[in-house]
Amino acid sequence: MNRNQLEGIMKCKPDRSFSAPINTLQPLSAMDRRFLWGLKLFLIILNILTFLIFLNLNAANRYVDEISRITSGFRDETNKLIKLRNALKNYDKLEIQRIGVHTDSGAKIVGNSNKMAGNSNKMAGNSNRKQSSSEGFKILSSHGMEKDVVTRRPRMCNGCFEHKYNYLIDNPNICSDHVTNVSVVIMIFTTHHKRAQRKALRETWLTYAKNNTGNIRYAFLLGNNKNDSDNLLLKQENDQHGDIIQEDFVDSYRNLTVKTIMAFKWASTRCASAKYFLKADDDVYINIPGVMKKIRNHGNILQSRVGGVCKRKTKPVRDPNSKWYISYEMYPEKEIPEFCSGTAYMTSMKVARDIYKISRDIPYVNLEDVYISLCVRELGYKFVDIFGFNAMRTPYKYCIFKTPRFVSAHSYSPTEMHEIWNTKCSPRK
Ligand SMILES: *[C@@H]1O[C@H](CO)[C@@H](O)[C@H](O)[C@H]1NC(C)=O
Ligand SMILES: *[C@@H]1O[C@H](CO)[C@@H](O)[C@H](O)[C@H]1NC(C)=O
Ligand SMILES: *[C@@H]1O[C@H](CO)[C@@H](O)[C@H](O)[C@H]1NC(C)=O
Ligand SMILES: *[C@@H]1O[C@H](CO)[C@@H](O)[C@H](O)[C@H]1NC(C)=O
Repeated sequence: MNRNQLEGIMKCKPDRSFSAPINTLQPLSAMDRRFLWGLKLFLIILNILTFLIFLNLNAANRYVDEISRITSGFRDETNKLIKLRNALKNYDKLEIQRIGVHTDSGAKIVGNSNKMAGNSNKMAGNSNRKQSSSEGFKILSSHGMEKDVVTRRPRMCNGCFEHKYNYLIDNPNICSDHVTNVSVVIMIFTTHHKRAQRKALRETWLTYAKNNTGNIRYAFLLGNNKNDSDNLLLKQENDQHGDIIQEDFVDSYRNLTVKTIMAFKWASTRCASAKYFLKADDDVYINIPGVMKKIRNHGNILQSRVGGVCKRKTKPVRDPNSKWYISYEMYPEKEIPEFCSGTAYMTSMKVARDIYKISRDIPYVNLEDVYISLCVRELGYKFVDIFGFNAMRTPYKYCIFKTPRFVSAHSYSPTEMHEIWNTKCSPRK
């Protein structure tokens, strides 16, 4: 500041030396106006162009995404995919699709090139051995549309997931004697080697079922196993207890959804008179008095609900290394609707029957609880969180397990089953 400025401030007068003279602003000339209008117009056009470019980029990105999604589940199979793609270059009338619904046939060629079909079937055969058979390639004759390249899982299909396996072991008599008075049928998921687990269940909480003569009925559910001595042991176990159901699909983690539909099918065809349906894993401790109390309290809402430990909407896991991985092709939606943990859940026989019936038209998804969620959504039913169900181990003292407000907890060994069962608790008022 110079001396004059300082004086100006001291005298509280505007200092003209560093503010623009007020009277220099002139009205806009006609030319200026035209220029400004031009500028406005230019900016509007620029905006529109930017927007269009953005849309295009988006479309391009989406296309790149699709391609990377096709390849992502096949990380270790990249070579095969590249081969397949190169092969396809020579056949621009063909397109490649990942099979999103459950099928055992792997890659298929629908088209008119026989040579091509031979080649890729061989490739698919290879990739099937490493991959699960529920995913594969499908090559269709193209309709010339690039966006048709990826097949997305439809919400519904026409009989694509029909459950037509044969019974290797069946016990239709489990429910037949007492047809009008079964309260609940318990479907327990197990595998051949879990003999000790089944034994522990029979000796502990399953004693409420009184060897399938009371108003609680149960069965252990299994698929098939290539090992003959395993199957023989299973048959002997069934000869002794008569509580095993086995179907001829391959028993594997990836086929849990098949076992789930097996449960709904068996219950609603062989035990249709039971009023309620309860699914449990073989390492779940179930407190039967708790189940009966929930039936009394929630029986009505279970006529249109599946109840257990339920979750609101979640995002599908897209990491192929995760146990919960679900591929984009198998399930393209951004969210998984609400669902209940598969460890233990219950519903009415009406809902169970409807789930079995609709399942033939709901494409396969490898995660069983998600699959049930999709059936329930299509049926217009809902899920309900029921207090007392626990999807994991709980820190509760074992006496809590025996109070009627407790229903289930998951991940207990045969020894622990007995420990819980044998814990002496003072009677509660
Ligand atoms: C049916 O079950 C109810 C309740 O569990 C019982 O009170 C009734 O006696 C049973 N009826 C028959 C015919 O067993
Ligand atoms: C159930 O069957 C077992 C042997 O299979 C027998 O030891 C037990 O006493 C039976 N329980 C009832 C309640 O009938
Ligand atoms: C078949 O099952 C038996 C009994 O569980 C087991 O000892 C045997 O190792 C199994 N064999 C194969 C080839 O897995
Ligand atoms: C599921 O079961 C079917 C029918 O037995 C079988 O062909 C398929 O290989 C099984 N899938 C898996 C992943 O085990």
